[in-house]
Amino acid sequence: MFLFDHWYIAGLRRDVTDKPRRVLILGRPVLVYRAPDGAVVALEDRCPHRDVPLSMGSVQGDGSIQCLYHGMRFDRAGACVFIPEETRVLTGAQVRSYPVVEKCEWVWIFMGDPARADAALIPDYPWFSKPGFKSRTGHLHVKCNYKLIVDNLLNMAHLPFVHPRTIGSEGVVKDAKMSVERRGLGVRLARRMYDIEPPPTYKQAGGFEGNVNRWQTIDFMAPSCFEFDTGVIDAMHDIPDPSNPVELPGDAKVLSRHTMHGVAPETEESSNYYVGFSYDPALMSEATADFVFDSVYKTFLEDVEILEAQQMNMALLPNAPRIHIKSDAAGMQAMRIIEELEKAQAASA
Ligand code: FES
Ligand SMILES: [Fe+2]
Repeated sequence: MFLFDHWYIAGLRRDVTDKPRRVLILGRPVLVYRAPDGAVVALEDRCPHRDVPLSMGSVQGDGSIQCLYHGMRFDRAGACVFIPEETRVLTGAQVRSYPVVEKCEWVWIFMGDPARADAALIPDYPWFSKPGFKSRTGHLHVKCNYKLIVDNLLNMAHLPFVHPRTIGSEGVVKDAKMSVERRGLGVRLARRMYDIEPPPTYKQAGGFEGNVNRWQTIDFMAPSCFEFDTGVIDAMHDIPDPSNPVELPGDAKVLSRHTMHGVAPETEESSNYYVGFSYDPALMSEATADFVFDSVYKTFLEDVEILEAQQMNMALLPNAPRIHIKSDAAGMQAMRIIEELEKAQAASA
């Protein structure tokens, strides 16, 4: 089951060009392209004449899309505006159009009733629009249901086992102080680890030699977006408090980043996963940013292996019971929110 009245990522802005792109979102084929005037257009990717994907066609000078098969054209609102060899236009020859908004690095699409598309509800990633800040962004296709990715991103107990070569170390689990708080249609998972050995990525990128204090503040926004505020600081200094920002002492050694994760369910068994992080170039060099992003990407590739194996087992044994442990608290809270939304959607159908 998918949640329709929500904004999802349809693609990275830089990938949306005048070349039509087909994306599957919530099981629906969607065509996304950029009209010559720069506006992004999203239409159902199916010609109402004979079902050919409109993404096989071409964008015209007026921003309409021409079907590859018999040349019918549809404007950006999906209305048929031209039929070759005919002077009339069929009334009712209409393709569904979807509301789209470009925000930060991504194109967001609303898959529900357009009347309910409130752009103010698109997840906000203020760090990506901060003046002077730079970012790195990427995309991965994962053959699993989006809920498995949500569960993965809210349970850090997997870090030492799945990511020992990058962001995992024993201290991430041992003695971590953890709090889970429901915030409207979201969950905040806050984890604090004191005086632990830095994981390999931080050692390499930040040159930490001694122990560190490490923080992970993870905000889940239903149904499938996240903001991560994570970092390490040398163990001689306290973890910075984002609600009370103070100038760090000059001798403090710190490495932090704000990462976004957004999952667009593709089918019940596959998802498009978007990841990016923003950084202050005054505090992080280009080379370090490249190294950190590369590590984030490699780290998630390790997760993909697990997620796809999980999905395979769940398809084979769909009703097998599961057990839960303490570190599942945030993920289970997120699943409760998703379930509430699913029930509300079913009740209003
Ligand atoms: S299938 Fe598109 S014009 Fe015929
Ligand atoms: Fe992971």
